[in-house]
Amino acid sequence: MGFKDQIDFSKLPQHIAIIMDGNGRWAKGKGKLRVFGHRNGVLSVRDIVEASVEMGIGYLTLYTFSSENWNRPRLEVSAIMELMVSTIHKEIENFMRNNVRLNAIGDLKMLPEKCFRELTWAIDKTSANSGLTLTLALSYSSRNEMVQAAKNIACKVKSGELNAEDIDERTFAANLYTRNMPDPELLIRTSGEYRISNYLLWQIAYAELYFTPKLWPDFRREDLYDAIIDYQKRERRFGLTSEQLN
Ligand code: FPP
Repeated sequence: MGFKDQIDFSKLPQHIAIIMDGNGRWAKGKGKLRVFGHRNGVLSVRDIVEASVEMGIGYLTLYTFSSENWNRPRLEVSAIMELMVSTIHKEIENFMRNNVRLNAIGDLKMLPEKCFRELTWAIDKTSANSGLTLTLALSYSSRNEMVQAAKNIACKVKSGELNAEDIDERTFAANLYTRNMPDPELLIRTSGEYRISNYLLWQIAYAELYFTPKLWPDFRREDLYDAIIDYQKRERRFGLTSEQLN
């Protein structure tokens, strides 16, 4: 078990992205409905947000609902959407007290109107906060994000605003939802699955990947400390040799 005092606070990842997985299995293991897992997953979200604020992490991006998740049973989808509305409503005071700026990425126009309204209200209310940027990936698909970026760039070339020869990695990154964020240095996935599932494919090019068997509703700040301690032991080489780095 990782302890906070083992963390080197001068080498924290600036941006942590998390694939919160295992809510359904957690609930099933307790003989409950899947939505019970999602409700308990919210408690993990609260603890991880608070711990990130305490540590001074700059960006936390949570995979909350993928574009593919729309195909889940209708009742589960509406329960998750309701849960989002009620969680945002309950957490807004904590966000204000903790200087958290809420943000969202994804195809947000797909969200039910009530959910979209609550979300945009909370994003607006917290927009002047300067501490942790908490981004919820909602109705999110990384491939779709990249297709949209390609379309935006194509439009700019067509209108003469941009020269095709001038397109580089920065142009592409500037047309993604994450244009104002640094790339995540650490990606965590819970529940023992070793997949990326269409999440931040461009942005995690150099991220350290951390997989844990813990199911999301069991994931607490001590588990986040473990992930950060593990991350800090890694040598991030960006294609260089160890000798070059030293
Ligand atoms: C993945 O577990 C989890 C989700 C698709 C939903 C995540 C939502 C929450 C944690 C609650 C809402 C959060 C906020 C920020 C308001 P799964 O259902 O795929 O689990 P399984 O793989 O065990 O079936």
